[in-house]
Amino acid sequence: MATKLLLDCDPGLDDALALLLAHGDPDLELVAVTTVGGNVALANTTRNALQLREYLGFFEVPVAAGAADPLVKLPETAEHVHGAEGLGNVLLPAPTLPLSELHAVDLIISTLAAAPGTVHLVATGPLTNIALALQKEPRIVEWAASFIIMGGSYTRGNVTPAAEFNIYVDPDAAAIVFAAGWEVVMVGLDLTLQAVVNNEIEKRMRALGTLGVDLVAPLATFWTNPHDNEWDGQALHDVCAVAYLARPDLFTSQSARVEIETKGEFTSGMTVVDFHDEMPNALVPRKVDVDGFWDYVLGAWANVASRYPHA
Ligand code: RIB
Ligand code: CA
Repeated sequence: MATKLLLDCDPGLDDALALLLAHGDPDLELVAVTTVGGNVALANTTRNALQLREYLGFFEVPVAAGAADPLVKLPETAEHVHGAEGLGNVLLPAPTLPLSELHAVDLIISTLAAAPGTVHLVATGPLTNIALALQKEPRIVEWAASFIIMGGSYTRGNVTPAAEFNIYVDPDAAAIVFAAGWEVVMVGLDLTLQAVVNNEIEKRMRALGTLGVDLVAPLATFWTNPHDNEWDGQALHDVCAVAYLARPDLFTSQSARVEIETKGEFTSGMTVVDFHDEMPNALVPRKVDVDGFWDYVLGAWANVASRYPHA
């Protein structure tokens, strides 16, 4: 029986590769996709999700658009990382299949309500849709089989020294999400920066054939960090969150209490992580078997590449 997931995302270079992983692993079943404003504006994250659905071939999976803006803060996007449209220099055919008529929040609630305890909720963008869903229907805390995010950090951020992008953009939503009473699996920067794309991995991506050359490698190498000369490759942050769902055995995790700073002049969006608190609300993957991660991910992507085009 495949592991079902709903992916709430802001595609986005790494979100796109997380969608490819969710579609490519035969032990995963992507049951719904919801979009949020984040890396680029909602109109672009949504168009990107629709285009990826047809380009990669998960035609039956509903895609619903969600929140354009954070709960309180003004929106901040990251075109300087993901490109003006959000998929770097990858140009995909215009979508022909329609967007769901449901709002993302309603698709999240209805998907989880229809089969309590069987669908895993994975979020790889700002947590606005998740917070709105919790406010509308608090029972999703019990209905979600598990809840995994890419976000946060227990060392340093990537937008400010304190805050990682997904939490920084909507700290108020993150505060609601971490206080909801469920266990948040927090796949943060400390984990995701262990699995960066180096030259050898890029070669293995290109060896996937047309899909590797046309999509995977361009998405995975579009951004080079101009501020970090030790930087030796792009981190595929969101791919790690989906990989955790499929292969938790590749990760070493630790319980923690995570609180979200929403007021700090210099620390807004910080995930304050205490691994010694007696009241944990999160499970924090701290180490990944990097070779095993890449073998798994590239193998799952190869499943799609072998069926490509319109895999
Ligand atoms: O900080 C990395 C996260 O922010 C990733 O989810 C990336 O897609 C951006 O949304
Ligand atoms: Ca993302």
